[in-house]
Amino acid sequence: MDKLLEIDHLTKVFTLGSMLSRVRITAVDNVSFYIKPAEIFALAGESGCGKTTAARMILGFEEPTSGEIVHKGKRDEKSKDKKVWFTEGVQAIFQDPFGTFNPLRKVERYFFETIRNYGLASDDGEAVELIKEKLNAVGLNYEEFSGRYPSEFSGGQLQRVSIARALLTEPTLLIADEPVSMVDASLRMSIVNLFKKLKEESGVSVLYITHDLATAYYVSDRIAIMFRGHIVEMGPVEEVLMNPKHSYTKLLRESVPEADPTKRWSERISLSESEHEEYLRQGCKFAGRCPGAMDICKSEEPKDVYVGNVFVKCHRYVNPTQP
Ligand SMILES: Nc1ncnc2c1ncn2[C@@H]1O[C@H](COP(=O)(O)OP(=O)(O)O)[C@@H](O)[C@H]1O
Ligand SMILES: [Mg+2]
Repeated sequence: MDKLLEIDHLTKVFTLGSMLSRVRITAVDNVSFYIKPAEIFALAGESGCGKTTAARMILGFEEPTSGEIVHKGKRDEKSKDKKVWFTEGVQAIFQDPFGTFNPLRKVERYFFETIRNYGLASDDGEAVELIKEKLNAVGLNYEEFSGRYPSEFSGGQLQRVSIARALLTEPTLLIADEPVSMVDASLRMSIVNLFKKLKEESGVSVLYITHDLATAYYVSDRIAIMFRGHIVEMGPVEEVLMNPKHSYTKLLRESVPEADPTKRWSERISLSESEHEEYLRQGCKFAGRCPGAMDICKSEEPKDVYVGNVFVKCHRYVNPTQP
């Protein structure tokens, strides 16, 4: 099987606090997954589980503490210049489209700039044709786009614009971190539908990062559920969401907390003390909230096991004879 992107035991440790009260948080803890060509893979979980940190490492914005990222069979290299080929064909879509564009610049300038930087057209006419093509792909037309400033678009339109811009370089992988959480609920489906269309028509893969299980269920092929740095369940989306195995997946299905729309891609989120305690927990991080927790859950980290084609990190599946 072909793998477009492979994440191998990726780990990120952050040190927080002052000299006197240092805490180390493993924001991403031994995370492994892969994305196939023309596949939508969702990374889901509530705020503060490590999704953005994982995405930032994949994009090269953040150095992993350990683990590897393999893109198109090539390994990530430490040196900055090697990152250029590494992320070639990868584009990011951010949570807040208004944060992506400078309010004082017409959005088309970003398009012309990208076209120039990547040498995508030989003259202005060709550049406009290319822009029209990409706007079309996201359901916008050039007339309603040309000459406008970011504030003249709605959130949903501007997110489409930022997807169109990402498409200029013909990426094979889009990394979209909460791309619809700032978009009107009524328009969310139409934006995630675009990912599906791009996958089906152009073979683009998407790492769809979200706390919203409804859109994840609708759009993705496979899903990984993250909790306090760990992937706790992963598999075909239908299996994971319709027949969840991990207690956290079950809980998440019932109550999906909203991501804070004021938090941007680069901004650090802050967790409550109890949430941080969960990060620091021995054993299973979810043991404190799990209705089925056993003694072993509080002392030993569960092993990664497969139940059929679903990955699950839970003691109840390591030793299924126990209740
Ligand atoms: N640069 C940083 N320095 C210290 N802690 C960070 C940093 N970035 C994220 N964190 C912490 O890592 C954890 C995971 O955060 P994040 O990856 O943003 O989660 P998510 O995107 O799932 O909401 C949180 O406890 C957060 O406070
Ligand atoms: Mg995030």
